Amino acid sequence: MIANVLSIAGSDPSGGAGIQADIKAISANGAYALAALTALTAQNTQGVSGVHLVPPDFVAAQVRTVLDDIHVDAVKIGMIANAEIARAVAATLAQCKAAIVLDPVMVAKGGARLLEPDAVDSVRRHLLPRAALLTPNLPEAAHLLGKATATTRAEMEAQGKALMQLGPSAVLMKGGHLEGPGSPDCLVTAQGARWYECPRTRTPNTHGTGCTLSSAIAAHLAKGSNIGASVAAAKAYVKNAIAQADHLSVGSGHGPTHHFAALYAQSEGDRA
Ligand SMILES: Nc1ncnc2c1ncn2[C@@H]1O[C@H](COP(=O)(O)OP(=O)(O)OP(=O)(O)O)[C@@H](O)[C@H]1O
Ligand SMILES: [Mg+2]
Repeated sequence: MIANVLSIAGSDPSGGAGIQADIKAISANGAYALAALTALTAQNTQGVSGVHLVPPDFVAAQVRTVLDDIHVDAVKIGMIANAEIARAVAATLAQCKAAIVLDPVMVAKGGARLLEPDAVDSVRRHLLPRAALLTPNLPEAAHLLGKATATTRAEMEAQGKALMQLGPSAVLMKGGHLEGPGSPDCLVTAQGARWYECPRTRTPNTHGTGCTLSSAIAAHLAKGSNIGASVAAAKAYVKNAIAQADHLSVGSGHGPTHHFAALYAQSEGDRA
């Protein structure tokens, strides 16, 4: 049977991040994508010009209606927007047994706020303890901890371990914001830290890398892989999606990654 993954996140009409990226990444990684929206954004590759929130009760209604009918193997949570939506999502998922990947989205690549400042505490209290895996980028990890942003591998590992104390079963510290030739990620579990190395691709087209990675991890968890193997497979997928991103021609800012690079290469091969 094909595994089912539910993404609870915001919409990015430019297609590179948010629920659109999630559906592509889940599909490209071999699972069936379900999607419940928390917010509509007006955004393109240059930035976010507007945000329209879904009422918290209706976010909960979407999730509840899906769970009433469909067996969900893994959940990915992205843009949560405010404290009321955080509480509504946590309450609705209280009885859900599926592994939850929580991507604590706070600020868009262009700098727009996607989580209200007073909602950080609700995410920390209501959602972090429910997460099988938390996937912060370095500024998000620092914000959740009330510390300065990590700039070294040692600080990344230490902050990952500190975030474990807030309740998630595992933490993946993403190194996209690190300076240097690599973009390493650090997975912290009860067993300790494990590093995933990757050369840094020089491209402006990294819109939605975080959404894409967390959704791909959720797809592999849904298919039955453990956390370490799911992160490895998802990291390899994102690395290729970024490496192939310049084949797309989408906007003049931070363009999307190529979610279906492998599938398009295969169909080119089929035609040749
Ligand atoms: N230029 C790059 N080359 C290779 N890998 C990258 C690059 N930029 C980011 N990554 C990888 O992409 C994944 C997402 O990390 P990143 O730190 O960019 O997340 P994010 O800041 O949450 O992204 P977003 O802006 O989409 O929310 C990580 O595995 C990271 O190592
Ligand atoms: Mg992100």
